[in-house]
Amino acid sequence: MQCSWKAVILLALASIAIQYTAIRTFTAKPFQICPAPNPLNCGLGQESDTFDRICDEYPYFTYNVSRKTHILILATTRSGSSFVGQLFNQHSDVFYLFEPLYHVQMTLIPRLSHSKNTADRKVLLGASRDLLRSLYDCDFYFLESYIRPQPVNHTTDKLFRRGASRALCSPPVCDAFAPGEVNIEEGDCVKKCPSVNMTLAADSCRERRHMAIKVVRVPEINDLRALVEDPRLNLKIIQLVRDPRGILSSRIETFRDTYRLWRIWRATGRKPYNLDLSQLTVVCEDFLNSVSTGLSQPHWLKGKYMLVRYEDLARNPLQKTKEIYDYLGMSMDKNVAQWIHTNTRGSNEMSAKHKYGTVRDSAANAENWRLKLSYDMVDYTQTVCQQILHQLGYKAVSSPEELKNMSLTLVQDRTFVPFL
Ligand SMILES: *[C@@H]1O[C@H](CO)[C@@H](O)[C@H](O)[C@H]1NC(C)=O
Ligand SMILES: *[C@@H]1O[C@H](CO)[C@@H](O)[C@H](O)[C@H]1NC(C)=O
Ligand SMILES: *[C@@H]1O[C@H](CO)[C@@H](O)[C@H](O)[C@H]1NC(C)=O
Ligand SMILES: *[C@@H]1O[C@H](CO)[C@@H](O)[C@H](O)[C@H]1NC(C)=O
Repeated sequence: MQCSWKAVILLALASIAIQYTAIRTFTAKPFQICPAPNPLNCGLGQESDTFDRICDEYPYFTYNVSRKTHILILATTRSGSSFVGQLFNQHSDVFYLFEPLYHVQMTLIPRLSHSKNTADRKVLLGASRDLLRSLYDCDFYFLESYIRPQPVNHTTDKLFRRGASRALCSPPVCDAFAPGEVNIEEGDCVKKCPSVNMTLAADSCRERRHMAIKVVRVPEINDLRALVEDPRLNLKIIQLVRDPRGILSSRIETFRDTYRLWRIWRATGRKPYNLDLSQLTVVCEDFLNSVSTGLSQPHWLKGKYMLVRYEDLARNPLQKTKEIYDYLGMSMDKNVAQWIHTNTRGSNEMSAKHKYGTVRDSAANAENWRLKLSYDMVDYTQTVCQQILHQLGYKAVSSPEELKNMSLTLVQDRTFVPFL
């Protein structure tokens, strides 16, 4: 039998789809009762691939969701998203989750952290949207089917970055800390709290008025259209962007294996021939697609889109956070203000604690990449990301002196008003 590469791809693809179908079947029960009188908009238009069909079978939410705000932080790794996540995590009325899509990717495409295959991408996105829908409905059982090993008795200690969610470190999920404890360290939570009981997690989610989820595995805003248009959700997107030069620098420091060749470039001054340039260009392309869509104000995003530059937040955290809460139509509680106060004064001893920590990434460090990247790396980035740099108001430098002269900011003043 001849086995062409197309057949191989097709086969691989079929197996992902089969896994996904299996997962869907396995968890079909919660989706079967579906009195939805009007499956309007579900997976409309270009997004109506088969994986959004689920929408038709999805149960109508059992409580009045029109009052609940479903916040989605659309970000990419090392763009300051942990910081933005904290602005919601600290709010006593918000249930916050840190990147649940990690489990979807690990289950469906375990070995490819960044699949470039568009069909894989479609399956992932469809599955991701389904998961987000069920989570916004405080259904945590659906998530279980993506967790390895499979949770027993609805309990797991493998929930990704569980400690990053205050709600999952507090009653009723965990009694290890005093009620109202403000600064629960992620590591302490993981150590002291028992495994997550998903039933209790769901209870905790229902008790809170709003829900915020941070995702870094959705490439661009158009991928979310089916969710945005879902009438049962009250989705509000906060798209977080950061200077791609800053993202690159931060990733080089953090993801030591996958960005190894970039470090070689930086150390030797010579670009390795086998450097995976897509690690940079994908960021810029995704930003460009999203931002172009968002700022063109399509009808489906009305009232549901706000663009936030990380640098603006770093420069003026309290003010910017107020603007974000205004856009959401929510009030910012005192815990949030307190957290900002404590974490943006840039005490540097605290910052070394954990590399995904929020403190380290805050205010003072937003332009630190300029001292870390070499000029030719910056120059290269400016060439391939020219359009998005310009659109977001990040100034290009034309000499090493300009790059290293920190008395000149490269962040131009821009106002991005939410699309109301
Ligand atoms: C849901 O809540 C909104 C706002 O509080 C209210 O106007 C609406 O009547 C409620 N709907 C139902 C079905 O209770
Ligand atoms: C799950 O619950 C059942 C019934 O309560 C119990 O017999 C079983 O030991 C539990 N399994 C684990 C791994 O805790
Ligand atoms: C999880 O919490 C639910 C609700 O309180 C409880 O009924 C169940 O026994 C708990 N599961 C385990 C394994 O403790
Ligand atoms: C940095 O830029 C400022 C403002 O243009 C300039 O006055 C200063 O001389 C520059 N410093 C260096 C070391 O080039």
